This record gives sequence, structure tokens and C-alpha cells, in this order.
Amino acid sequence: MTFDTDAANRALAGLRPFPVAITTVNGGFANGLMSLSAGSASIIPEAPRATISLTKYNKTHDMVLESGIFVMHMLSAEDDQIEKSLEILMTLGGSSGRDGDKISKLRTKTGVTGAPILLDAHSYVEARVTGSLDVQESTIFVGDVVGAEILHDGGRLRIGEAWSKLPQDWIEQYDANHEPQLANARARRFGSTV
Ligand SMILES: Cc1cc2nc3c(=O)[nH]c(=O)nc-3n(C[C@H](O)[C@H](O)[C@H](O)COP(=O)(O)O)c2cc1C
Repeated sequence: MTFDTDAANRALAGLRPFPVAITTVNGGFANGLMSLSAGSASIIPEAPRATISLTKYNKTHDMVLESGIFVMHMLSAEDDQIEKSLEILMTLGGSSGRDGDKISKLRTKTGVTGAPILLDAHSYVEARVTGSLDVQESTIFVGDVVGAEILHDGGRLRIGEAWSKLPQDWIEQYDANHEPQLANARARRFGSTV
């Protein structure tokens, strides 16, 4: 790269401070992951849209691509909910659905799309994909919201607070899991020799 990538990364850091739990269902199998890519993608208040960016390495990516549905959950920062929030984050962000069912470890109900709604989340929007953009290592999905609910009032969990409260051994495992994901992304972006 011929520019200052550190400056770019500092400029871009922290733009999306809320970790969200994404769930979906495809062919009868429910799954999900954590994401820091969530955003609103709407201008029309009566027709809300949401956007997420998923890495192709992750099983949830292929499932959303095939099923065309996702649920985006905000997590709660309130004292009586934060343990549940961290449990969701560690369950969905700590391993892959390729290695086994994660969703049955969490309290859920079924949404209008058939995808699981996490009952211990702060709130959610449920969406049907209306467009997607393939960007080599990831796909950016935009969905029309078809369901929404506030499940617990109060503040939403920010990623800084989450990292400060997550157990050190979980963070170390997450960092180790991140390496093959990063290698896969680099291979897709620059070619398999890099
Ligand atoms: C805080 C946090 C943010 C993450 N952000 C993203 C993201 O934006 N996109 C993504 O594809 N994965 C993201 N991940 C990684 C996935 O959650 C993780 O790789 C997960 O185990 C994938 O599960 P799956 O293979 O069942 O889909 C994030 C993980 C954490 C803990």
C-alpha cells in the first residue's frame, strides 16, 4: 500500500460501536454470529432498512446469502442484563456453527421469517435481504425490516464496555480464532499466495 494504513485504520476505528448478534435460519438449521458492522440503511421512516457486512469465512455468511433473511439484535448494557449480553456475545462470536449448534444454548422464539429471535437481547430488527454487494472477502447485505421489538428497556451495550468485561481466556481464544479468518480474507482479496 502506498498510503498510511495506520492513519486510515485510526480514522475508521470505532465508527460502529455497537456489537450486534445476527441470527438466521437456512434449510432448518439456525445459526448466528456477532458483528460490529451493523447500520441503519434507510431514509424512509415507515420503511426501515438495516445493513450488515459478513465475512465469507463465516457460516452465517453463506446462510444469509442462501436464505435471504437475518435478524439483527442489539444487546443490553443494564446491570440486570449484562451477563446475558456477554453470554450471547461469547456464544455466537466464540465458535462457528460449522462446529455445532450454538442457537439452542440461548433463549429464543421464532420470528416472522422463521429465524430465531434472542429473548435476552435488548431489541431486534428482522429483515429480508433486498440487495447485496460482493466485495471479495465479505458481502454487504441490506435488508428490508419486516419485524421489530424492544425486549428490554435501557441502554445498549457498546463494544468498549463488552471487551472490558469479557473473560481474558475467552478473548485469547477469540484472537486465536480470528487468525484463520484473517488469512482467508487476505487470500480472497490478494490471492492464495499471500
Ligand atoms: C465483537 C465481534 C465483532 C465481530 N464482527 C464481525 C463482522 O462484522 N462480520 C463477520 O463476518 N464476523 C464478525 N465477527 C466474527 C464472528 O462473530 C465469528 O467468526 C463467529 O464465530 C462466526 O460464526 P459462524 O461461522 O457460525 O457464522 C465478530 C466477532 C466479535 C466477537
